[in-house]
Amino acid sequence: EQDKRESLYLVSEFASKYFQNILHNTDQGKAIGLSYFKERGFTLETIKKFDLGYSLDQWSGFTDEALKKGYKLEFLEATGLTIVKESKRFDRFKGRVLFPIQSMSGRVLGFGGRILTNDKKAAKYLNSPESDLYHKSKVLYGIYNAKQSIAKEDNCYLVEGYTDVIQFYQTGIKNVVSSSGTALTSDQIRLINRLTKNITVLFDGDAAGMRASLRGIDLILEQGMNVKVCTFPEGEDPDSFAKSNTLEELTKYLEDNAQDFIQFKASVLYEGAKNDPIKKAETIRDIVNSIAKIPDRIKTEIYIQECARIMDISEEVLFSTLAQITNKDQ
Ligand code: CTP
Ligand code: MN
Ligand code: MN
Ligand code: MN
Ligand code: MN
Repeated sequence: EQDKRESLYLVSEFASKYFQNILHNTDQGKAIGLSYFKERGFTLETIKKFDLGYSLDQWSGFTDEALKKGYKLEFLEATGLTIVKESKRFDRFKGRVLFPIQSMSGRVLGFGGRILTNDKKAAKYLNSPESDLYHKSKVLYGIYNAKQSIAKEDNCYLVEGYTDVIQFYQTGIKNVVSSSGTALTSDQIRLINRLTKNITVLFDGDAAGMRASLRGIDLILEQGMNVKVCTFPEGEDPDSFAKSNTLEELTKYLEDNAQDFIQFKASVLYEGAKNDPIKKAETIRDIVNSIAKIPDRIKTEIYIQECARIMDISEEVLFSTLAQITNKDQ
């Protein structure tokens, strides 16, 4: 079993090196892959720091080379790098630029692959399938490059996507990781919890992600961590914002706009509900639900006071709602 995992690691690491070589040292890699990354504003140094790669637009160029080098088809298939169909072999990431996903200690676990066109019919990102190495609910993209800065800054920025991580890093904010599109999980939060108790969640400037993310944030509170949130202007995400701003501007934006999560939730939700008594009651219950996740009693008390003020309701009502919720949980 341990031998199998090690074989999967070796195949993945070979693949990562192979795709980097294609990107940097072949005509097509340079003309298509490298120019794509450069257009996104990534420097050569950044491209190398994140081991970005390119998979040629061929059916089985990678698989053929890997087999020739002696890697077993069994392991190529188990990592999802090769798809076997009716005894034919296909490269999963054909024609995509690649983002290797590394473990905390820097080993390659899997890949995210982006198409280069804006073809709405194909999935924009294709990721490695679940395997003995890659469990998407347990990895955080960028953690290997970020871990030292997270500990040093005693804060972790959490973004949605691969390119958000890379653009932040390049701009000079290195304590950044991504849950890569999946709803945030307790396992992912635990990885951060080993390095810092403080998370700042950065949402894309669209309503879509917001709802799901709000739910994930309760999981952070449950682990006794502090959460701030910061939204970006409509249509922007951390990548596009960092690309068009300097480090000073970005830092100032984050300082001015990062809000304590409970206050954020109270003000955002309350704003939409204050003229509707039924909605207002639901909102209050929702927020008290989040507060109920916080293990620290002193923090709980402070948040109750804050929310009473924001939502213009008595602390007594909030405390009794809190008591109901916590009793029900036990
Ligand atoms: N994602 C995915 N599969 C998709 C779409 C998104 O796995 N079909 C994941 C990717 O990890 C992506 C993240 O969700 O980085 C955030 O999605 P989105 O905001 O749509 O993509 P961006 O990262 O902004 O991608 P880009 O700037 O390249 O368009
Ligand atoms: Mn998004
Ligand atoms: Mn985005
Ligand atoms: Mn984007
Ligand atoms: Mn920048």
